[in-house]
Amino acid sequence: MTTEAKTSISQKAGVPEFAKVPPSATEWMKAIRIRDGIPDVTTTVEKPVIDYHSAQVLIKVKAAGVNPVDWKIARGDYSPLQPASDFTGYDVCGEVEAVGDQVTRFKKGDAVFGDIAPRAGTYAEYCVADDRNLDFKPKNLTFVEAAAVPLAALTAYQGLIHTAHLKSGDKVLVLGGAGGVGHFAVQIAKAFGADVWATASESHRSLICEELECSHFIDYKTQNLAAAVQGQKFDIVFDSVGAKEARDQAFSLLRPHVGHLVTTQPVDPSDRPSYLKLLGAAMDYVWKKTESVLWRDVNYHAFITDATQGAQDLPTIRGFIEDGKLRPRIQEVLPLEKAAVAWQHSQTLHTGGKIVLEVEQTEKQA
Ligand SMILES: NC(=O)c1ccc[n+]([C@@H]2O[C@H](COP(=O)([O-])OP(=O)(O)OC[C@H]3O[C@@H](n4cnc5c(N)ncnc54)[C@H](OP(=O)(O)O)[C@@H]3O)[C@@H](O)[C@H]2O)c1
Repeated sequence: MTTEAKTSISQKAGVPEFAKVPPSATEWMKAIRIRDGIPDVTTTVEKPVIDYHSAQVLIKVKAAGVNPVDWKIARGDYSPLQPASDFTGYDVCGEVEAVGDQVTRFKKGDAVFGDIAPRAGTYAEYCVADDRNLDFKPKNLTFVEAAAVPLAALTAYQGLIHTAHLKSGDKVLVLGGAGGVGHFAVQIAKAFGADVWATASESHRSLICEELECSHFIDYKTQNLAAAVQGQKFDIVFDSVGAKEARDQAFSLLRPHVGHLVTTQPVDPSDRPSYLKLLGAAMDYVWKKTESVLWRDVNYHAFITDATQGAQDLPTIRGFIEDGKLRPRIQEVLPLEKAAVAWQHSQTLHTGGKIVLEVEQTEKQA
């Protein structure tokens, strides 16, 4: 490939400031490029370089987790608030290649994982993250397994613990218990000693009941939610779906005044016709900035994950994983070059657990 055919990742709008310090000798890496909202090209771009005067970490990517937000941003769902960029991916697990001079926790060769937002670019051989987003890879997970954890587990953890103040003995209902976020929410709530109920489709009954050992399963396709819970009142409903009907019912299933309804998806996607897209995105933003409101007698939280809290929250999540209380469930592993296929599968929004892109094949276990 000629130099002209190669592109500097640092020159692309919306991509964080890779290559602040220009490489002394130009090095190149493979990365997935987004075109027309889909990852259609594996291209060769300039390898990112950290700013040695900052808290940045350069990571040699082993695996990148796939999340709905990757393709939602790429297809413009959050534009103009969060415009699409040429490069994508937030979840990463890999090895530290270099650190800035303010980084004291990590050194070259450490295995790390994290959600690098608001940066992007983990669908690549190298990425840059702030050290506040990162933690050490759990010892008992492979790189692929650990890449499945950060964004979804942080969402479940921050939503349940920081936002809804989950405590032992609480009764928790997880809407969408089989998905990337939901399967972590079920496990985290159980790890904190909650009595957990979960909705999913019949095809995910064994995932919920056997793999996650959750004893209360509700098939949302055939059962009426209010009837299925048989008069139970919940302390927390954790909604990872955004389906209007279930969420509307959830209000009346919560304990009045003290119950918490936490949703990761405040606007039902099916409620958003394209000509209202812009307005919908603005509403999303306003809702997600709204910390909490008392609405219809419960504490309502339109919640957004804070990946920059990773250094604080991921160690607890790692502890649960290393203690055997939490485990990512991997539906599918694909090579980096198959990112478009991974997105097609993720776009069904019927994933059982997580989809992961393997960037560098490795036998290395913890
Ligand atoms: N606010 C934030 O900061 C934040 C953070 C993370 C994710 N999110 C959003 O949260 C949503 C979930 O993310 P994810 O990574 O968990 O997605 P995912 O892995 O695709 O999981 C979606 C799950 O939803 C279930 N589902 C679909 N329709 C359902 C319904 N009507 N009732 C109950 N369950 C239903 C599916 O289960 P079945 O296959 O069994 O139907 C599937 O397991 C996405 O929209 C994502 O963008 C927001």
